[in-house]
Amino acid sequence: MNRFVRHRSVRIAAAGLMIAVALIVARLGAEAQTPGATPGAQTAPAGNTQNGKRIFASYGCFQCHGREAQGGIAGPRLGPNPVPFVAFSRYIRQPAGQMPPYTSKVVTDTELADIYAFLQSLPQPPKDIPLLNN
Ligand code: HEC
Repeated sequence: MNRFVRHRSVRIAAAGLMIAVALIVARLGAEAQTPGATPGAQTAPAGNTQNGKRIFASYGCFQCHGREAQGGIAGPRLGPNPVPFVAFSRYIRQPAGQMPPYTSKVVTDTELADIYAFLQSLPQPPKDIPLLNN
């Protein structure tokens, strides 16, 4: 190998290393941005919060779960941390207890995603209200 060739291969190796480093950095950046706040949120389809709020009222979910899905009427609290989307849609199609089933003819999968988005958008309930401890 003459000097010229050796220099060139060193430069090619250095360029390869830089590309590898850039790929790793890009990968780490993407992972850091993945939202992980709500379990199951990553697998939930993007829904329309406003439409979800509307359907939640018009399909009668609110009659048992409350207007803000706060629970306490006939059904439990549903937001702001609903069960993972897969379990959520399965339960609505085939509930196990008091709740009436909603088939995909009544509530479409898109509408379920909208309701789910609405539930996730609800404010956190207050954890501790000191006055209530007196
Ligand atoms: C007639 C009352 C009633 C109506 C209407 C109703 N639910 Fe329910 N829901 C319940 C009750 C009661 C439960 C608790 C489990 C059971 O008994 O089925 C429940 C449970 C659930 C659960 C499971 C919660 C968990 O933590 O596992 C989800 C999700 C849910 N309801 C969503 C909805 C949605 C969305 C609608 C409207 C499309 C709706 N419900 C309408 C009464 C109702």
